[in-house]
Amino acid sequence: MISDRRSFLEKMSQIGALSLLPVAPVLANSTDTLPIEENNHFVADPYLQNPGNDEITIVFITSKNSFSWVEYGSGTYTSKREFGYNNGLIEANNRVNKITLSNLKPGTEHKYKVVSTEILGYKGSKVEFGETISSPLYGFKTPSSGDEEFKMVIFNDIHDRPQIIPQLLYRHGYTGNKRDYDFVVFNGDCFDWVTSEQQMVDHLLKPSTDVFASEIPFILTQGNHECRGSFSRRIPEYFSYPENKYYYSFTRGPVHFLILDSGEDKTDDSVEYGGLSAFDRYREIQKKWLEKEIETEAFKKAAFRVLLIHISPWHSGDWHGTMHCREVFGPVLNKAKIDVQISGHTHRYATHEADSTHNFPIMIGGGPLEGNRTLIKLHATSKELNLKMIRDDGELAGKLTIQKKSR
Ligand SMILES: [Fe+2]
Repeated sequence: MISDRRSFLEKMSQIGALSLLPVAPVLANSTDTLPIEENNHFVADPYLQNPGNDEITIVFITSKNSFSWVEYGSGTYTSKREFGYNNGLIEANNRVNKITLSNLKPGTEHKYKVVSTEILGYKGSKVEFGETISSPLYGFKTPSSGDEEFKMVIFNDIHDRPQIIPQLLYRHGYTGNKRDYDFVVFNGDCFDWVTSEQQMVDHLLKPSTDVFASEIPFILTQGNHECRGSFSRRIPEYFSYPENKYYYSFTRGPVHFLILDSGEDKTDDSVEYGGLSAFDRYREIQKKWLEKEIETEAFKKAAFRVLLIHISPWHSGDWHGTMHCREVFGPVLNKAKIDVQISGHTHRYATHEADSTHNFPIMIGGGPLEGNRTLIKLHATSKELNLKMIRDDGELAGKLTIQKKSR
């Protein structure tokens, strides 16, 4: 365990050092100055996104423009290939790959690897290909609507401290030497503000793929800090969401999850946002979606209903973001018979029982400093939903046991 963490930290520092190396100019007709350039490699190993019973999206990043694909299959064979497609063209000459495998068999183990052939350039319309690289073989299991059990872990408020990911997962994500989670959530504020792809790789993607993300899917829920920085609007290019929105729902085993985006914490006209925020309008749009969502069959028939939202509409101070979430989402959520809400944002872990303002319990994870970090572990069966909030030192910081209600 410790050596895994050490090699992870060594890899991180190598990447940091490599990105600082100067790249010499390429001189035409010169043999004495060779460019100091790395070969094409995976800047981010593949990570799993947006799993459904019969599909999954695999995202990976190459260092050079390439033509990339996924080789996959059920069982131990990878006899099928899938590419990205756009307007009749097979995706190529790109670095960030988002490839969806569809028509998969539910509840089945699959193997896959990703392959990239560098594109050196074009001569007129003719493509010039370079070397081909490929990843190791990874595996994942498609979910199935018959799954009676589901296990998930939830991080929040990492705030550019990537070591939290291996730290909490290696300490608290295993039973024996087996991972005891099927899914991972980053419930907002992974970063302070977002300025580059490198930051997303170093602070989220790499620590995640080093520990789990090539074989276990994850979601990034937008926190108020993901809304900030020059790269913030490009974050969705690196992830896959149903209908490309940050608010959506999905069912895994006995649980139907609602994901809402609480947006920024201050008013849209706050000077910090430079006049480029429209979160009031966005929360109103989400409210309309939520009203329809709670009338769907999937929501109504689920054994458990769990809400993930970065800023809790209650117990999260009285700034505008909290208060507006309470105003627009509160009445719908109280009508919806939610079983539990999971949040972050305050940096102080707490568990709040249902009260006169919210008729469901709320668990808020802590972070990001040592001694205050938590990993929330959700375990659902068809009869019972269990949440345990584990502090980094192993202390049980919160616990909820919810029995299936007759609706
Ligand atoms: Fe936050």
